[in-house]
Amino acid sequence: MTVPHVHLNNGVEIPQLGFGVFQIDPADTAAAVSQAIGVGYRHIDTAEMYGNEKEVGEGIRASGVDVADIWITSKINNNRHGYDSTLAAFDQTLTDLGVEQIDLILIHWPLPEAGDFVGTWKALEKVYAEGRARSIGVSNFQSNHLNRLADECTVVPAVNQIEVHPYLTQDALRAFNAEHGIATEAWSPIAQGGVLNDPVIKGIAAEHGKSTAQVVLRWHVQLDNIIFPKSSSAERMRENFEIFDFELSPADMGFISALNRDERTGPDPDVFNYVPA
Ligand SMILES: NC(=O)c1ccc[n+]([C@@H]2O[C@H](COP(=O)([O-])OP(=O)(O)OC[C@H]3O[C@@H](n4cnc5c(N)ncnc54)[C@H](OP(=O)(O)O)[C@@H]3O)[C@@H](O)[C@H]2O)c1
Repeated sequence: MTVPHVHLNNGVEIPQLGFGVFQIDPADTAAAVSQAIGVGYRHIDTAEMYGNEKEVGEGIRASGVDVADIWITSKINNNRHGYDSTLAAFDQTLTDLGVEQIDLILIHWPLPEAGDFVGTWKALEKVYAEGRARSIGVSNFQSNHLNRLADECTVVPAVNQIEVHPYLTQDALRAFNAEHGIATEAWSPIAQGGVLNDPVIKGIAAEHGKSTAQVVLRWHVQLDNIIFPKSSSAERMRENFEIFDFELSPADMGFISALNRDERTGPDPDVFNYVPA
């Protein structure tokens, strides 16, 4: 099955479907990553905060697939905001992953009160200019945070990774991203399983002979979202990969989008200011 690529604003192509490793125990991560690559995934989404960057690197090396053929995304942790601290955190991420260049590095959270996302972004602009990051982006940024970067910095983020699923469709922020040439990455694409028993989604899944997870992931693909569902089971990794052999009708798409309740599974980025020790 061929995974489509999304063309980022700097000309770089990212696989639209990847594998997320949030909440995978470090002891299990290398095996999970290697297994996901065996299924066909060529894009891994990790973060310093997940505590498993080293094991992601180990899993890629164990897979037998050249690391150059695997897209890797990681994120600057909340306690690494600020120019100098971010440069040090970035070096550590490359060391832990065992690579000299990363495909995409993100600011994990804007932390509007407790952090310094402008200083952090300037550090990412530097590693981008040096070619040590092929692309740079942000996560959990609202339009006001993106406007501040546009006013005070130079490089437009390649992506904004935000929580999106049928109960939180984020129409306004997704449209804002698109207007500014920023690709939307959707985290918790199945709301950590929370949308899988929805009767509307179950009905559409039955019509297509697909699982509810496959229908929701397909909905994301047709909205042009970049996704990286997490699973600790090889069977569900495969299930989540098999979403390119069917298509949802415009009516199906509309029914799923109409399920929006503006319901988050995670924190609200406008007020989230948690900085670990
Ligand atoms: N930037 C951010 O702030 C942020 C925040 C959260 C997540 N993320 C990224 O987004 C990735 C995905 O989000 P997520 O891990 O929070 O949630 P998710 O991918 O929406 O859901 C994962 C959960 O759903 C289950 N699941 C997966 N596939 C399934 C299937 N086909 N059928 C039934 N259940 C299934 C998994 O259980 P099993 O493991 O048992 O299969 C797991 O409990 C993360 O791994 C991370 O890379 C980023």
